[in-house]
Amino acid sequence: MENKVLLKIENLRKFFAIKSGFRKKYVQAVDDVSFEIRKGETLGLVGESGCGKTTLGRTVLRLHEPTAGRIIYDGEVIFDGKNVKQNKNMKDYRHKMQIIFQDPSASLDPRMTVGEIVAEALDIHNLYPDKGKRKNRVAELLDMVGLNREHANRYPHEFSGGQQQRIGIARALAVEPEFIVCDEPISALDVSIQAQIVNMLEEMQNRLGLTYLFIAHDLSVVRHISSRIGVMYLGNMVELVDAKELYKNPLHPYTKTLLSAVPIPDPEVNRNSQRIMLEGEIPSAINPPSGCRFHTRCPVATENCKTQVPEFREIEQGHFVACHLV
Ligand SMILES: Nc1ncnc2c1ncn2[C@@H]1O[C@H](COP(=O)(O)OP(=O)(O)OP(=O)(O)O)[C@@H](O)[C@H]1O
Ligand SMILES: [Mg+2]
Repeated sequence: MENKVLLKIENLRKFFAIKSGFRKKYVQAVDDVSFEIRKGETLGLVGESGCGKTTLGRTVLRLHEPTAGRIIYDGEVIFDGKNVKQNKNMKDYRHKMQIIFQDPSASLDPRMTVGEIVAEALDIHNLYPDKGKRKNRVAELLDMVGLNREHANRYPHEFSGGQQQRIGIARALAVEPEFIVCDEPISALDVSIQAQIVNMLEEMQNRLGLTYLFIAHDLSVVRHISSRIGVMYLGNMVELVDAKELYKNPLHPYTKTLLSAVPIPDPEVNRNSQRIMLEGEIPSAINPPSGCRFHTRCPVATENCKTQVPEFREIEQGHFVACHLV
């Protein structure tokens, strides 16, 4: 892994407008999130369902247009909320930044053959205009992900979930991307084949020098593949640090509760730690709690936490946390 920053996200915000009766309300799916991703690393992203992981991943790629903030890719500002003129045409970046979806069957067009699915992005970017070379490229991609060249003429429904995800990966790799958002790429798959897909993604990363934002529900999945891990709660990034450090020295009360739910076979981590249960439901992103959004469920919250929004700040070298009590 190099130390060069590939992607810099500054104060990113994505609100969805929804109708509620006659009024317009906003879902604050991602609010004021800042972080960097270094070239060649895997940044793991975890948090409960609905905390904004998918929205963040898609907004970074501008598949959702951000509500505010800045996105800098490889030194170039590609989105600057305040300065619309700066906003780049994403067509120049689409082939550098790709996404792999959670549900492979839903993300593959059932009317297209596997070959057409994989070649579609090549055509959009006009990468292999020569028919023969295009066919070879598709065959090469299917080989790469452990499928068969003959599979190019078949349809997605003829494949298992794991194979469908391989097709999705081949499609993402077709345009030679540098950065891939992996949005829970294994959570819809059989446990028995999850490791195969993770191993393949890691192998591709080494071979092609890829950078990943790897989204997962819980910490056990991202533990081994991530160099650093970010934890989200209700639209905010609450902690971000080296993967090893997160397990050894979690600082945010929410991270501690998440960790207490995963069994960790690590002698350095206190085995006697109790499982901490969070009280109450996750609050609504339409009307999130004031101050620290976690205060309504935090076991150690004080009066101050109810009114003051904690700053996401660097507590130790490379260890970011948003909590008044740290
Ligand atoms: N297109 C949309 N329109 C309105 N609200 C949306 C839209 N997409 C997501 N949301 C809302 O934004 C919030 C974040 O959703 P998101 O899908 O990003 O969460 P997530 O962390 O990926 O959850 P999961 O782990 O279940 O995939 C949720 O409250 C969700 O209902
Ligand atoms: Mg999601």
